[in-house]
Amino acid sequence: MAESLIITGTSKQEKYESLLPQIKALVEGESDYIANISNIMSALKFGMNWFWVGVYFVKDLSPALSKGEGEIKKELVLGPFQGPIACTRIAFGKGVCGTSWKEKKTIIVEDVELFPGHIACSSLSKSEIVVPAFDKKGNVTLVLDVDSEHLATYDETDKHYLEQIVRIIEQL
Ligand code: SME
Repeated sequence: MAESLIITGTSKQEKYESLLPQIKALVEGESDYIANISNIMSALKFGMNWFWVGVYFVKDLSPALSKGEGEIKKELVLGPFQGPIACTRIAFGKGVCGTSWKEKKTIIVEDVELFPGHIACSSLSKSEIVVPAFDKKGNVTLVLDVDSEHLATYDETDKHYLEQIVRIIEQL
């Protein structure tokens, strides 16, 4: 039986500092990729009390849909998440997630309505941060998407810690 998370501290940094070792401990001793990612999403959702936390995997389009070359033959497909139901597929370069994949970098959006091409899975989502994960060749394998019901929730502190969490996911 898994134990509950214990989050100490009041600042965002303190919460992440208490969460990180617990996330590492959660995945130690378990080799199943989806099980580990699922628990990390739950730890983030309930540890940080955010609206929506999940991953989108870079996957091959079915051959029938695939007309292009390179990344055009792939798309983001919803993976383990915590929160309301979400869009299942996102194209390369589309929305915040597709842009993070294309630009291979973390994107912080303070107001989703001001982000060109933002994909609104829920009208309650007001700000978000998306962090890409890479394979050893530098290809994006998935993006971690975190959404808030409040404006300007995410900043450089979130980028710092969420990138560390994504480094853990890359090692799974
Ligand atoms: N807002 C994201 C789509 C995913 S959901 O919000 C869960 C985007 O623009 O990529």
